[in-house]
Amino acid sequence: MKFFIDTANLAQIKEAQDLGVLDGVTTNPSLMAKEGIKGEGAILKHYVDICNIVTGDVSAEVIATDFDGMVREGEALAELHERIVVKIPMIKEGVKAIKYFSEKGIKTNCTLVFSAGQALLAAKAGATYVSPFIGRLDDVSTDGLKLIEDIRIIYDNFGYETQILAASVRHPMHIIECAKIGADVATCPLSAITALLKHPLTDSGLAQFLADAKK
Ligand code: E4P
Repeated sequence: MKFFIDTANLAQIKEAQDLGVLDGVTTNPSLMAKEGIKGEGAILKHYVDICNIVTGDVSAEVIATDFDGMVREGEALAELHERIVVKIPMIKEGVKAIKYFSEKGIKTNCTLVFSAGQALLAAKAGATYVSPFIGRLDDVSTDGLKLIEDIRIIYDNFGYETQILAASVRHPMHIIECAKIGADVATCPLSAITALLKHPLTDSGLAQFLADAKK
């Protein structure tokens, strides 16, 4: 399973890249705002800065919600860097835009997906990635991981090549369950990735080994 980091914070992206396990980055307008990145020029520059840190795909989200606007923004984003994936919301105009980009060979990430039906539409339109938001489903008492399972079954039934990118990941168990189900990618906060490292028996075992090494 690929690991993406879900942030626009350059220091965190670099830390994950340095760990040697990073396969890509996802951003969204809220994450960009959180880093204080404002204005079109600064936003576009920030995407390029991210692309220059990592070696994998970098999702950059369009703001327009009409077809022409999404195409205009998406084409400008795709021209920024070869690693840019155009992130498009799961709305009617978005499905049309995904189809358009798919026919032009531009990678897309269909975002804000909360149902298997939406994921089926994204795959039929030719999305490179589909992003089901599992944490936000859990937040409203709906099983986010069950959605990943359903999408896996549907995509495998018909051999859709769209990659399932589990999004809105909150903690390490989300990552482990996504790996068991067969999600292609999990995009995670750095804290969830580094939490996979931790086990108290590793810490106590290492402390014992280091103490014994001195004897
Ligand atoms: C994914 O691409 C989204 O940016 C992200 O995972 C949303 O996560 P949140 O629900 O923690 O905001």
